[in-house]
This record gives sequence, structure tokens and C-alpha cells, in this order.
Amino acid sequence: MVSTGISLSQLRQHGLMQLLKKSQPSTTQKIVIDYSSPNIAKRFHVGNLRSTLIGRYTAKLNSTIGHHVHSINYLGDWGRQMALIIAYWPKVRPSDSYWNSIGDGEKVRLLTDCYVVGNRAIESDEQLKEDVRRIHDKMERIMLEGGEDNEEMTQWRNIVRISINHLNHFYSLFDCHFNEWMCESEESRRARLLVSDLLEKGSVKIDGKGVIMEDGEVFHQLGRTDGTSLYLTRDITSLLYRDSMWKADKYTYVVERAQRNHFATLKRVMELMGYEDLAQKITHLSYGRVKGLSTRKGRTEVVEEILESGKELAKEWMEKSPTAKQLTQQESEDTSLKLAISSLVVTEMRRARNSDYEFSWRRTFDPSGGNNAIFLHSKYSRLCSIEEANIDLMNGLDEYPIIEEPSSIPLISSLLSLYSSAISSSHSMESHELTNSLLSLGRECGRAGVTLRVKGSEEKMARSRLALLSLAKRTIEESMGILGIPIIKKM
Ligand code: ARG
Repeated sequence: MVSTGISLSQLRQHGLMQLLKKSQPSTTQKIVIDYSSPNIAKRFHVGNLRSTLIGRYTAKLNSTIGHHVHSINYLGDWGRQMALIIAYWPKVRPSDSYWNSIGDGEKVRLLTDCYVVGNRAIESDEQLKEDVRRIHDKMERIMLEGGEDNEEMTQWRNIVRISINHLNHFYSLFDCHFNEWMCESEESRRARLLVSDLLEKGSVKIDGKGVIMEDGEVFHQLGRTDGTSLYLTRDITSLLYRDSMWKADKYTYVVERAQRNHFATLKRVMELMGYEDLAQKITHLSYGRVKGLSTRKGRTEVVEEILESGKELAKEWMEKSPTAKQLTQQESEDTSLKLAISSLVVTEMRRARNSDYEFSWRRTFDPSGGNNAIFLHSKYSRLCSIEEANIDLMNGLDEYPIIEEPSSIPLISSLLSLYSSAISSSHSMESHELTNSLLSLGRECGRAGVTLRVKGSEEKMARSRLALLSLAKRTIEESMGILGIPIIKKM
């Protein structure tokens, strides 16, 4: 049996979450986690989902082990790309009556397309380039001086509103909540003031490339020649603001690996500005890319389309399952959506954070492999039915001694090894160890459903087995809670 330092009775008495907390050193940290943080006017895509799921898990695990976590969704609602969409919109906008007839998802799709086409056009269109520059500059001046909104600012506010509605739809599907939303736009003013301040102090200078900070052989750009702010500078002022608000021990950013240089530069510039301590507190929790996302309708990175295909596959599977047949039409709709959501969560949580992985519809949605959410849910719901069928034995079950019999050993061992994976996940902040142990526990529960029969066993044995299966059920629930897998009681 795996040696984990805990016994089955400790797991029964305290539960996984409490044991995890007890296992940690008593120093509590304050951690600010920036995750999800999508750009607006862009359909919610698989990279956003990865940041959302990894960030949510990191936040949950950290608070489970006793840290104070403050989660931030930092909306990318500012910058040249916004000005580009606004400048190019008149060329692609649909009729007002069409625009007013469609939902926010569809509106965001049109805005995304506008950006893609506009971005191609700007390469060779000097007039467009000039318009974008002028609009961006004007918007930043209004932000800086606090004047009345012009037409472009009104349009921008509309885009922000539509995008937030679009995002909230996904946050509610994936049950994701933040302590706070912050916006890049709020930083544009602070970023410009910072640049003027640095210019005054002589820590930066203006040359042909813009406002630059020299750093030995290299330099870092903190502003454009026309004075408009940059992503990096907005991150600097946002960090200073966060630190003035929360004085945290750690500032974590869950952002794709492609932005490694950005965060290295952020750290470096903070040091050069004299904030060595704060620079030390920056952690870039990076993640890799998901490849091979083709649906029956073609390639996609868009979460809405991935979920749609996933729902269809989950339905196909449910049609083959004898228990799912008893569901009403509405129940089966809800369950297939929940299955698709949890399949995506499990697929993500099973991976090492920095891996570039190949997405496989078959592995994600075919329960026969035993390594995915549908499989796990089916074992979990089997445990629910066992409890329900033996409700008369449930009374006082928590104190009932569990008899170790040869056929219970694999399940006990799987439970204890899940605990050690959870500990190890809490050190590495990776989710794959816990997820893989959870899937193994699911497999053991499947076997135990056959080898540890409750019905028909004499009462002592029946109670002991039921107590063990119940503990497995509770441990699955707790693990799912940490990983963010929705629970489905009936399927
Ligand atoms: N909005 C950025 C993007 O989509 C990610 C922002 C991450 N957070 C941050 N503070 N830089 O690429």
C-alpha cells in the first residue's frame, strides 16, 4: 500500500480539504492572482479558457491550503487594436436593423472579424494607419483629461458592454467568479503620468523608437513617439496600484507562455525603477498551446463551437447509456451541456501546465478509455445510486468501522494515493497529479461496484463496504470541487 503519512480514519474524520490545509506550514500568504484577463471584442477562445481554468484552480487550491487569495480579471479593453476596430467598423458594419436583431455572441463575432480584416488592410493603407493613430490618441486624451465622450468613446463603451455580456456567459457556464474586474483602460491615464514622471526624473528618454529605458546593452520601450501608452506600461502601473491596495506577498499572472518576455521585462523594469522587492513577487504562471482543435465543421479555437460539438458527442453517448434514457428532454439537455463542460475541464486539468497538447475529441468524449469526465461522472453517479439504494444503512455510517478485506484494499490504496497526489499538487501548483489520481479512483470505484457488493451482504459487511464507498464518493466530490469539475448527480 502507498505510504502517505495519513490513515483511512484520518481521511474519514477530516476530509481531503481539511487534511490538505493541515499539511501546510502555518504561514499564510496573501496572493493576488490575475487570470482569464481576455481581450475584448474577441470571441472567448481556448487560450482564454486555459487561463481561466488554470487560474481558478490555482486560486482554489491556494485558498484551500489557507492562503488569502484575491482574484483579478484584468480586461484587455484598451490599446491600438481598439482604435483599429473603431476606425475600420464603418467599412464592415451591418445594417442597424440586423445589428439590433442579433445577440451579444454574434456581435462579438462581427467585431472579431472586423479586427482580423482591418489588421490585414492596415498593412497597405496609409490613411487607415493615420486614422487609427488619431483615434487612439484622441481616446487617450479624453481618458487623461476627463473630457466629454466623443463618438468614438461612446462606440468603445458599447463594445466593452457587449464584450462583458459575452464573457459573463462563459464565466457562468464554467462557474467562474472573480473578486475583482480591472481594466487596462483605467491604466492608460496612470501609464501616461508615469512616463511623464520618469521623463522628468531622467530615467527614460525619447528617441526615434519612442520612450525608452536603457538597460546596459538593451532598452525597454515604455511609450510610443506619439505619447500613447503601451501594454507593458499599463501593467507596471496596474501592479503598483495592486500593491498599494493589497500589499500581497505574491502577484501571480496566469498567462500564455508566449508572453514570457513580457513578464521578464515587467520584472526587470520594476527593478530598474527601484522596486526590487515588488519585482521579486511577480510570478508568471505560464501555459502552453492546445493543438488540433478541428470539429466536424472545421478548425476552431472558439469555446462556444467546441462546447457545441462536445454537447453533441455527449448526447450520442447518453443515448447509448441505459440510465440516461430515464431523463426528461430538459434534463438530458442540461446534462449533456454539463458533460461537455466537465470534459473540457478534465482535459485541461489532466495536463502539465506548460505542455502543448493535442486535443482529441475521441479521448475527451469516449468514456470507454476510462480517462475522461464522462467516465468519472458515470462512476460517481453509480456511487450516488448505491447510497440511495441503501439509505436504511446510512445512519451513523461515519463512525462505522471499515473492515479491511482483500477486495477493499485497491480502493483504500487508491484513496490514500489520491491524498498524496493532492499534497504534491499543492507543492507544484500543477493539477495533473490530482486529476490523474481522481480518474484512477474513479476506475477503482467502478471495480468496487462489483467486488464490494452492499446488497445481499450480511449487515456488518454491508455497512463497512457502504462506509468505504461513501468515503470514496465524498473524496471524489471534494477533488472535483478543487479542480472545478461540475457535479452531476443523475445521468
Ligand atoms: N489581455 C491579455 C491577452 O489577452 C492578457 C493579460 C494578462 N494579464 C496581465 N496583467 N498582463 O493577451
